[in-house]
Amino acid sequence: MAYNVPKLADFSPAGLETAARELLGALEAEASSVGNETEWKVFRDRWMARKNGVLTLLNDLWLKAAPPESKREVGQRVNQLKTRVEGCVEAALKKVQGGAVGSQLLAERVDITLPGIRRPRGAEHPVIKTLNEIVSVFRDLGYSVEQGPVVETDYYNFEALNFPPHHPARDMQDTLFIAGQGAKAQRDRLLLRTHTSPVQIRTMEKMKPPLRIVIPGKVHRNDPPDASHSPMFHQVEGLAVDTNITFADLKGTLDHAMKSLFGSSVKTHFRPSFFPFTEPSAEMMVTCFICGGSGRRGADPCRPCKTTGWIEILGCGMVDPNVFEFVKDNGYDPKKVSGFAFGMGADRIAILKYGVDDIQLFFNGDVRFLEQWR
Ligand code: DAH
Repeated sequence: MAYNVPKLADFSPAGLETAARELLGALEAEASSVGNETEWKVFRDRWMARKNGVLTLLNDLWLKAAPPESKREVGQRVNQLKTRVEGCVEAALKKVQGGAVGSQLLAERVDITLPGIRRPRGAEHPVIKTLNEIVSVFRDLGYSVEQGPVVETDYYNFEALNFPPHHPARDMQDTLFIAGQGAKAQRDRLLLRTHTSPVQIRTMEKMKPPLRIVIPGKVHRNDPPDASHSPMFHQVEGLAVDTNITFADLKGTLDHAMKSLFGSSVKTHFRPSFFPFTEPSAEMMVTCFICGGSGRRGADPCRPCKTTGWIEILGCGMVDPNVFEFVKDNGYDPKKVSGFAFGMGADRIAILKYGVDDIQLFFNGDVRFLEQWR
């Protein structure tokens, strides 16, 4: 039963003593049951609120009601009780706050004997790793790295690379076009770049010769996916422009790069080819670094080089003067400068380097495959 301030009938010292003891007993009991700050507030208000708090009622029911001869005695009692109540309420607050700090400490407790949380370690994707390796070989030769947009205009992807409109060479690259471009002039139509070569033009527009750059990046072609084709793949493009750059520079640079990439025993071989943006053009082969050029692995035929002992690794050539014409105003006068360019498929190189038998494995996100490069 909650304590109620009784009306006093007996104002004698003994009567006051009994009433006071009853009150203090209730005070102690209620104080000891206060367990948190919300309960404490209820407790405090019940005893100390101006309106109807126990102390207020003591004033009204005990002091004001006391006969004149007892007023002094009652007044002293009530004051004593007031001090006791205030002290008790204050102590109760300390108790719950101490308890709260204690329980907060408890909640934040760290068991340093538990094992730590293991965060799965990521791995560099094998294609990105290969791109980086190729780039760093050329960086050591003084080349800088450039990038360009994957969604490209017809102008940069074809026209400025000397693919005339309706030229059959455009069909060599099964282009994925962005829909709804029909209203634009052909050169402004958007497509997914089919090679990294457009960044040659973009870079020559903003940087004057001499120039030595490599361009790693993502390209797209309308090739149905199979073990060796993916509609999305990666290339590293290269471009060197200066006065007096010759085909010997091209051969020396690429031969060095292949030895750095695949080992000093690989040999390179160039055979004539055609690209609209280079003249002359070549395809470069390296001796098969799987079978060492023998075409055989023990008694078995070497699959990566189809027993030829050679692997085709890139296209290259001397920059066609027609290409320089598009950037002539930025210092690329074809009468004054010459250059070589090359482009290689990074996914294919990764496949050969790591002995992967299906390009799709690179892109279908199976962690069991990818974590092998950790
Ligand atoms: N862009 C060509 C392709 O994707 C590759 C290439 C060939 C790039 C010759 C070049 C080059 O820079 O000179 O098939």
